[in-house]
Amino acid sequence: MAREWALALDLGAISPGQMAYVDVDGLPVALANVGGAIYAFGDSCRHEGGPLSSGLLIGEAVTCPWHGWAYSVRTGKSLIPPVGLRIPVYPVRVEDGQIWVGVDWPDA
Ligand code: FES
Repeated sequence: MAREWALALDLGAISPGQMAYVDVDGLPVALANVGGAIYAFGDSCRHEGGPLSSGLLIGEAVTCPWHGWAYSVRTGKSLIPPVGLRIPVYPVRVEDGQIWVGVDWPDA
């Protein structure tokens, strides 16, 4: 695996309690600002692919806008049945007011 850091968004573009969608080299990623901490996770719901960044963020829980499945934006774990499912989560760096997302790509 080779980790690449991609510039995702200006920190000022996402206020506490908000989410944003970003395309990271073709990967659909959602960003969430939870009390000033930025989390990055896969934007596609494990149910039918609903866009999580268009859902509801309460604390660190994101609820899918399509049918209500919910996940922790910090761990990616499902918060309601079916438990045990996960969405991917990605490491985040904030430098000079900009959000960077780390993605581990398979070696070519
Ligand atoms: S697609 Fe997310 S709950 Fe159905």
